[in-house]
Amino acid sequence: MEHLMNPLDLSVEEMDKMFDLATDIEHNPEKYRHICDGKRIATCFYEPSTRTRLSFESAMLNLGGQVIGFPDGGVSSAAKGESVADTIRVVSCFADICAMRHPKEGAPYVAAEHSSIPVINAGDGGHQHPTQTLTDLLTIRSMQGRLDNFTIGVCGDLKFGRTTHSLVNALARYEGVKFIFISPPELRIPDYITEMLETKGIEFSEVIRLEDRISELDVLYMTRVQRERFFNEDDYVRLKDFYILTTEKLKSAKESMLILHPLPRVNEIAVDVDSDPRAAYFKQVQYGVYVRMALILTLLGLAPEV
Ligand code: CP
Repeated sequence: MEHLMNPLDLSVEEMDKMFDLATDIEHNPEKYRHICDGKRIATCFYEPSTRTRLSFESAMLNLGGQVIGFPDGGVSSAAKGESVADTIRVVSCFADICAMRHPKEGAPYVAAEHSSIPVINAGDGGHQHPTQTLTDLLTIRSMQGRLDNFTIGVCGDLKFGRTTHSLVNALARYEGVKFIFISPPELRIPDYITEMLETKGIEFSEVIRLEDRISELDVLYMTRVQRERFFNEDDYVRLKDFYILTTEKLKSAKESMLILHPLPRVNEIAVDVDSDPRAAYFKQVQYGVYVRMALILTLLGLAPEV
């Protein structure tokens, strides 16, 4: 693998190897402290981010490397009209690896085509967010002990939420994973995803009310309504608070259920849920650093056998 654009760029075996490496990093951070001495990551973010950008930067710093980049296309020469293709050619002269986020679907793919260094898609429009998926899967594997034979409820904006598209594609390759998609009709999971599940014979259902199915779930993956992808503010206002997970609703959920969220959260999880032992969304952020460390090492050809 030269670049990472989509979680499916990694085979299940490669993903499992990456998770083994991430777990070794979690337990033996000292071993990795200087492995990227002299290496640089460029974080080229054309769209806002807190976690993904800082997680990539922390990952490289934890490995002994350095960080350059921009947090906003408006402060780069994109504001003067420079193309993504030209930008990556330039960034390739300064860094060894690049993580790119862009509001336009496919922009990191264009960058990868013109790059002489590995490019990681750090989120492209409403399309894919592969490193969030690596984060989500590592969290489930670490906290639940397996990535097969469980039921996951994916709730919220399933139309525009790129994290859910990447997550379902990746989990559909594991044995016995059942999906319950919970969304208002306007924000349904795209047909190309349900068609893929049908083709593979994977069990899924689509419902509107979270309360109707919460008791069946081993993992509840909450998502935010993606204001920035709506064409119409009225629709956003109408749908933004469609789901609010509360301690009351959690009473009928399994004691062992994991609550995940890619974050940022707006209103969809009440703040008092944070102290529930099932709330794993801040631990999920920490797993994101370990898995991005593992990914950087893998793409730079520096990953040791673990
Ligand atoms: N989960 C996620 O992508 O968060 P940021 O938008 O803050 O990077």
